Amino acid sequence: MRIDIISAVPDLLQSPFNHSIMKRAAERGLLDVVIHDLRAYGLGKHRQIDDYQFGGGAGMVMMIEPIANCIQRLQAERNYDAVIYMTPDGKRFDQPTANRLSLLQNVIILCGHYKGVDERIRKHFVTIEISIGDYVLSGGELAAAVVVDAVGRLIPGVLNDETSALFDSFQDDLLAPPVYTRPADYQGWQVPAVLLSGHERKIEEWRYEQSLKRTQERRPDILK
Ligand code: ADE
Repeated sequence: MRIDIISAVPDLLQSPFNHSIMKRAAERGLLDVVIHDLRAYGLGKHRQIDDYQFGGGAGMVMMIEPIANCIQRLQAERNYDAVIYMTPDGKRFDQPTANRLSLLQNVIILCGHYKGVDERIRKHFVTIEISIGDYVLSGGELAAAVVVDAVGRLIPGVLNDETSALFDSFQDDLLAPPVYTRPADYQGWQVPAVLLSGHERKIEEWRYEQSLKRTQERRPDILK
């Protein structure tokens, strides 16, 4: 999968994909994240990318030309399955959306800033609008990093244990069960005995019960 991210603050995106699972995905050739500095497409000597909004009002708006030029240049190189715009008024990001996006080949993610982008970008270029939650960030970069991480780890071959993403929280409309590691006894705080029993079916049953209990307690809204 190739993900092209268009950003006015590309430095914000340097670190998130260079560690841990995202790094491994890149090293295995499974995920290629390419970051584009919108400023390089800016207009005039000052490489302008934003301007005052028509009709007046506070706050700058990202101009259509730099974004259009960047998107069109990318689209001339390959076909894109989606042009995603990160925006607080987009559709709320969730696990089913991450699952669907992980099946795509080439994706552009546009990060908004200031008051947002000229509406014509959204109308004519953007195919999916995503919000990561009901709060406003100062830009779309951190939101884009969240989406790339959630999607990237689902690409087959990225996680070492192929099955482990299947047991993530939210994959079955259930939260994941609690997990423990050594020591089995930490100053009297014990690991549940069933996990030490070696009895696979019982462990599975216990995990399912715990998932159910946890979901009922914490997120009854996702329980089917
Ligand atoms: N840009 C600013 N806030 C955002 C949010 N909550 N989700 C996605 N993009 C954003």
